[in-house]
Amino acid sequence: STLDRSSAASDVYKRQGLAIPLSHSNNESNDHAMILPKIPQELTDFKPEIGLILGSGLGFFADDRIEVVGRVPYGDIEGFPVSTVQGHVGQFVYGTIEGKRVICMQGRFHFYEGYAMSQVTLPIRAMHEIGVRTLFVTNAAGGINLDFVPGNFMLLSDHINALGTNPLIAWKGSEGVQFPDMSEVYDGELRAKIRDWAKAHSVDLKEGVYLATTGPSFETPAEVRAFGTLGADAVGMSTVPEAIVARKFGMRVIGISCITNAAAGISKTELTHEEVSETADSVRPQFADLLAAGVSLA
Ligand code: HPA
Repeated sequence: STLDRSSAASDVYKRQGLAIPLSHSNNESNDHAMILPKIPQELTDFKPEIGLILGSGLGFFADDRIEVVGRVPYGDIEGFPVSTVQGHVGQFVYGTIEGKRVICMQGRFHFYEGYAMSQVTLPIRAMHEIGVRTLFVTNAAGGINLDFVPGNFMLLSDHINALGTNPLIAWKGSEGVQFPDMSEVYDGELRAKIRDWAKAHSVDLKEGVYLATTGPSFETPAEVRAFGTLGADAVGMSTVPEAIVARKFGMRVIGISCITNAAAGISKTELTHEEVSETADSVRPQFADLLAAGVSLA
């Protein structure tokens, strides 16, 4: 029967220590309603207004800048995936930044880990459910724009979805817009405030278009040239799914990339995950100042 085949497949994934893609889990369809997590009461009661997703090497922000009220490991939430990437802890941290109630993802889910798009964006759904209205999405990215140097920050002005799929495909549930407008994904007004803050504080804040690939391989030099021609200033492996779902719910979204390296072919050196983590780590205080300022301006 279908059920036998499906559990056999899921056993194979388990034996190999792999995340079980939704299509092979016992939950057979991409049915978001069926996989909705049971959100812990402590998160609901806290009523966070702002959500933060901390990208590769940027998880320290939760420890450095949040007046922490509590932590909830993803593994403690029924129906929640667990993050597997080095440098990603995998928990919600909630508390305040300058009096604003925030919920922060220390570790996110990537499509390249084998999760379904519905799983990658499940935390956004959870955040929406507990009342989050503004989302800051951060990531590490490779610089395509020749003006960018490693350690720069880039405010996302827009994005290009080169994932080959969309998290809203087969979406179940009636909340939100079925065909979300994407003409201003990253809030122009809040971006202007952040830009002004950066200017006043002599932060060399770049602004540009982020292109998302699935990864996990880095790009070839030919791909980087092609993406540049398409209008991309930076390239990474995240952010776009979360931003799309957030817009479906009408959340205000801000995206910030930490340019950790020049993209392939622009730099002649080999790209490694270590380089990405090291650069992110080297700009820790600057990144923290920028993100904290963004939150206080939101
Ligand atoms: N490419 C894709 N993703 C990345 C990169 C890159 O060069 N750097 C950090 N994340």
